[in-house]
Amino acid sequence: MGAKTPARRVATTDDIEVSAYLEIAKELHGEAVVAEKPKYPAERDTVAVIDFGSQYSMLIARRVRECRVYCELLSYDTPWQKIASLNPKGFIFSGGPASVYEPGVPLAPAFIYESRLPILGICYGMQVITHQLGGKVTPGTRHEYGHAILHISAEDSPLFVNLPSSLPVWMSHGDQITEMPPGFKALAYTENSPIAVMGNDSGIFGLQFHPEVAHTPQGKTILQNFLYEVCKCKGNWTPGNFIAESIDRIKQQVGEGRVICALSGGVDSAVVATLVHRAIGDQLTCIFVNNGLLRREEPERVLNTFQRNLHMNIVYVDASEKFLRRLKGVVDPELKRQHIGEEFIRVFEEEAAKLGKFDFLAQGTLYPDVIESATTESKVSAKIKTHHNVGGLPAKMSLALIEPLRYLFKDEVREVGLALGLPEDMVWRQPFPGPGLAIRIIGEVTKERLETLRAADWIVMNEIKKAKLYRQLWQSFAVLTDVQSVGVMGDYRTYGYLIALRAVTSEDAMTADWARLPYELLSRISNRIVNEVSNVNRVVYDITSKPPSTIEWE
Ligand code: XMP
Repeated sequence: MGAKTPARRVATTDDIEVSAYLEIAKELHGEAVVAEKPKYPAERDTVAVIDFGSQYSMLIARRVRECRVYCELLSYDTPWQKIASLNPKGFIFSGGPASVYEPGVPLAPAFIYESRLPILGICYGMQVITHQLGGKVTPGTRHEYGHAILHISAEDSPLFVNLPSSLPVWMSHGDQITEMPPGFKALAYTENSPIAVMGNDSGIFGLQFHPEVAHTPQGKTILQNFLYEVCKCKGNWTPGNFIAESIDRIKQQVGEGRVICALSGGVDSAVVATLVHRAIGDQLTCIFVNNGLLRREEPERVLNTFQRNLHMNIVYVDASEKFLRRLKGVVDPELKRQHIGEEFIRVFEEEAAKLGKFDFLAQGTLYPDVIESATTESKVSAKIKTHHNVGGLPAKMSLALIEPLRYLFKDEVREVGLALGLPEDMVWRQPFPGPGLAIRIIGEVTKERLETLRAADWIVMNEIKKAKLYRQLWQSFAVLTDVQSVGVMGDYRTYGYLIALRAVTSEDAMTADWARLPYELLSRISNRIVNEVSNVNRVVYDITSKPPSTIEWE
C-alpha cells in the first residue's frame, strides 16, 4: 500500500459490506438525519458499565451480556440523564490506565454514589471507589501482572456464591490500596495484595483482578454473582425478548412508512432484514447487488434463502459487468475499494429510485462499531450522521436510519439469527469483506482471474468445512497472487499462478494469528487446487500473524 493513499480498511466484525461501502463513501455529501434513540422497556434489567479507558472494557460488557443481563458501556463523563434513562440496577467500573492520585484523572460522578445502587469496581475502578470514598491508594512497591491465587476470607459474601475458597485470577496493576474507605472490609487476598477484594454492606465492591478475562476462569461466576445476588438482576436479556422488543419498536418507528435495506449475504444484514420483515412485512424492500465479486454460488444462495424461504421482497441487481468495467486496469487496493464503494452507491441509488419513495434505511450497525467510534453521546450521534449521510445516499431520499442491532455484540446477533430461524450456514458465515474477491486478487481484477480465484476459494471452503474447522476459524480463504512460477505437470513445463492460503483465528479482527491447520488438510487443499484449477501450479500457506501483517493481502 503506497504511503500516499490513506488506508480505508475498516476493522469489521463481520462482512459489513454495506457499512464498509458507506464508510468508503463518507465524502459523498448528503443530508444528515439523526436516528431515533431506541426506548427500552422498564422491565429489562440493565447495568451500566462505566468506562475508564481499559482495553478490557468491551469485554466486561460482553461478559455481562453472556450472563443474560443487558448493559451499556458508557464513558465516565456520561450525564446522569442518559444513565437514568437506562434505569440501571447497578454499576460496574472498568479498569483504566490512570493513577487515581494524579491530578485530572477520570473519576466517577457523585450521582453514581448518591444513587445508592450497587457498584463493582474492577482494578482502576476499585481504586476510584477507594479514592472517592475516603480510602488510600498508593503506588505499589511491587507491580503485579499475571496469574495469582485468590484466597477468599469472607466465604459468606454474595460475590463468592458457588465458588471454591481459592481460585486463579489475572492481575494487572501497579497501584495498591493501602487503606480501605470507612465501612469496607477485605473479602479476599492474594500473596501480593492483602486487599484483593473489598466490599461494604451497601453493595459496593472492588476487585483488584480482572474477572472479565479468560485467564480468570471463574471470573464470570463472580460477575454473575454481582449481577444476580447483589443487583438482583433476573437474567431476562434473551434473544426471544430482544426479538419481541425490536419488532415492537420497529413497528412504532416505521408506522406506515417504507423501508429499504441492502442485503450483503452476511449475517448482520440478514438478521436486520429478517427482523424488519417480521415487524412490517411487505413495507420492507431489500436490494441485493451482485457486484460480481462474490464467492461461487453466493448470489443464488442469498436469493434462495430470502426469497423462497423467508418470502421477502427482494430486488436482485446483477451489476457484475458495471463493477468489472469500473475496475478495469485498477491495481491499487485502496483505489479498488473506492471504485467499488462508489459504484455500489450508484447502483443502489439507481435501483431505489425505480422503487418509489422510501422513508427509512435499515442497516446492520453493531455495538462494537458504536463503541469504537465513541462512547460519549455527542460522538455517537456524530457517527449516526456519518452513516446516514452515506446510508441515506442522496439527500433527496431523506431516509432516517433503523439500526436494530446497534446495541448487540456479534455473538448476540448470531443467537438472534438462529432464534429467527435463519439457516446455520448464514448465521455462522465467516466475515467476508465488502469489496469481496477484488481485494483477494493481487493486481487487476478480470473475469478470468475471478473465475480462477472462485475455483480455488471453493476448494478451500469445501475442505475446511469437511474438516469441521469452519466455525473455529475467523476467516479462511485463497488469494490469487500475481506471481507466476515454473512447474511441471506430466511431461510439460508449466508457468502458472501462485495461490496463497490464509486461515486465521481471531476474536475481533484487530489482531489475528495464523491457524495451525493440520498438514494433511493443507496437503489436500494444495493437491486439489493444482489439479482442479487451471493456470495454478503452486500453493503456499501464509504463516504471519496480525500485526505485523493484516488478514487480507490487500
Ligand atoms: P485486515 O486485512 O485489515 O482485515 O486485517 C480486518 C478485517 O476486515 C475485513 N476487511 C474488510 N471488510 N471492507 C470490509 O467490509 C473492506 O474494505 C475490508 N478490508 C478488510 C477483513 O476481511 C477482516 O475480517
